[in-house]
Order: sequence, then C-alpha cells, then structure tokens
Amino acid sequence: MSSHDLPRQPGGLEPSLPSSWYTSAEMLALEKERIFSRDWVCVAREEEFPGPGAYRVIDILGESLIVVRNREGQLRAFYNTCRHRGSRLCRDKAEPAGANSPLLRGGIASGRITCPYHQWSYDLDGRLLAAPYLTTDSSFDKSLFSLYPVGVGCWGGFVFLNLTPADAVPLEEKLGPIPARTVRYPLSELRIGQTIHYEVAANWKVVCENYNECYHCAGVHPELCAVVPAFRDRGGANLDWDRGIPHRSGAYTFTASGTTKRRAFPTLNDDEQVRHKGELVYPNLFVSLACDHVAVFILQPQSAAHTHIVCHFLFEPHEIAKSDFDPSDTASFWDLVNRQDWEICAAVQQGISARVHQRGWYAPMEDLSLDIRRYVMERIGDAVDAT
Ligand SMILES: [Fe+2]
Repeated sequence: MSSHDLPRQPGGLEPSLPSSWYTSAEMLALEKERIFSRDWVCVAREEEFPGPGAYRVIDILGESLIVVRNREGQLRAFYNTCRHRGSRLCRDKAEPAGANSPLLRGGIASGRITCPYHQWSYDLDGRLLAAPYLTTDSSFDKSLFSLYPVGVGCWGGFVFLNLTPADAVPLEEKLGPIPARTVRYPLSELRIGQTIHYEVAANWKVVCENYNECYHCAGVHPELCAVVPAFRDRGGANLDWDRGIPHRSGAYTFTASGTTKRRAFPTLNDDEQVRHKGELVYPNLFVSLACDHVAVFILQPQSAAHTHIVCHFLFEPHEIAKSDFDPSDTASFWDLVNRQDWEICAAVQQGISARVHQRGWYAPMEDLSLDIRRYVMERIGDAVDAT
C-alpha cells in the first residue's frame, strides 16, 4: 500500500486521517512547512488597519510578521526581522515590553520601521531607507537589504498572508468558487460589531472537520436545532448548502428567537433572506452567513492540541452606528453553540489519543469532512505514511 492509499471499510464509511496526525508536534511542523507557510492564511479584517501607518504584528506558528498599511493605503507584510543582524523589529502592542518599549528606540512610527538594535530604518514598503554610517557610502547597495516580503491579499474585507510569495498562486485562484457563492453578501462593507476569543484544546483539523458536518448537531446543539431543525434531520444528510439551510417557520437568523431587529442585507436573494450559508476557506477561515450578520472564525494553531480562535461578528456599519445597536442577540446565541463545539472538539482530541485508536471514520452524512483529508493529503501525503 502506498502512502497515498487509505484503508477501505465497507458500509459507506471513509477513513479519517491517522490519529497521530492530530496529536504530534512533528506533524504540525510539517503542516507549518507545507500548509501554513505555502497556502494563503487569513489573519485579520481590513478595518483593523484603518489608515497609513496602521500596523499589527501577527504570529503564524511561530513566524512573527508585520502587516502595515503603506502611505498609498495598500497593505504590506514582512517578516518581523531586520536584514542586518536579524533583530525582531517591533512587537505587538499586547506583548510585554520589547522593541517598542521605552527602553529601546525602534518600532513603527512616522512612516518608518526602525530596528531597535542599530537603527536601520525601512519604509512601509520594506525598502531600506537608512543604515547609520553605511548608506552614505556609494558602494553600499540599499536595495539588497529590503525586508523579507510576505504576500498580502484581500477578499471580502479579509486579509490573507502568504509566507512564500514567490511561489504563491493568486488569492483569487485559491478562493475558487467561494466569492461567486457569496457575491450577494456585502462582506467588504461589513464591520466588526463584537469579537470573542476562544482557546480550544483541539487540533485545528478537528475544528475544521466539526465545522464541516451536522451529524453532531442533534446531540451537541439542541438550541441551534430548535431554530434550524434541518440540522438534525437524518443526521444533517443532504443539506443544500448552495441554496442555504432553512430555519424553522418564522425564523430567519441565528438568534435564540430566530429573528432580529436588524434588516436583512438588501442585496440578498429571496432564499438568502431566510436561509443560512457557510464557507470554509482552508486552512483557517470559517464564514457563517446569516441575512443580517456574518460570524467569522479565524483559527490560529498554537500547538498540535491547542487552537486559538478569533470569532468576529460582522454587521452593516449603519446598524453598528445606531444608538441601540446590540449584537448580543446573535453573539450570545453563537457563543453557546461555539462553546458546545469547542468542548466536543476537546473531547475528540482526548479520545483520539487513546493508544488503540489508530484512526476514525466518516459516515456518509459527514462527506464534507472528506475535504480536510483531501486538502491535507494533497499537501503532505507524500511526506508521511498515512496507513
Ligand atoms: Fe457544531
């Protein structure tokens, strides 16, 4: 059996990836090289960079990256490493004292990225502007010392990075049919109304697989199924995600009542005004689309068994601007469903670590979970034995 073959099982079940792929640090290191350093990875919303000079320091599996809006208003990204002696250039505002601390001169200010070590400074496009006592020498070629580039792409207001920009496919190609399927949702215009951060004790792939099936919904999400009974019908088999999932009669959005004071996005078609849609942008972005809001999940793997998840609730700006704007009708409902999901994902992570459990199985109604097996196998199947 070659490493690309997976064992077969009668009864319509498909094998999952081996359990060790969800638990080992070696596999996560391979995924970092083959997936998170090669594919486009969602890291933020565009509104988090409100104007020229606005920046964030972002970590992707230990790679520290600067994302900054340049003077022309375009987003740029670089490895957070000085081309001189390799010092970290700046730290995130949330980090403890470091390169932006009062102790050290450096960081991003006045349209420059300045290294705190020897004060080499770069413009917001990563070009070396000045290196004390060196750039006055005509034999010193500044163009050889630009910051290491990171690819940046935007779609629907989401910011994606690619750590290997020289080999990256265009973001549009990577997204495939997703922009067309969501074209009537005003994703770019929506703004963050509330954010919840979660620490999930599970591998990122466990979380993806869980997002991809509703076989678990009847048992794990009774409140959600009360609003969306289709999720529990026949184990969530044959859900028509292209047309959208219907709510119970009289309900049209993800809140406890199934209704809301917010208007439906006016550009939606008749189905989308009363149905729910979802998209999974591998490897780390989930987009759940209701008629009046969009719930966004950005996965940030921390270790093989730990995933940080940033959950944004997006709304039309004019709704957020209202004096009585209150996102809690949907955020509290989602928070309940989310915590149910994270708890069951943690239970999976614990259970698959049993020494006797070499792999799991996907039932027919979990067909979409096969996507994560295909996605991962295509990228790392040749490097490891999947049997
Ligand atoms: Fe769930």
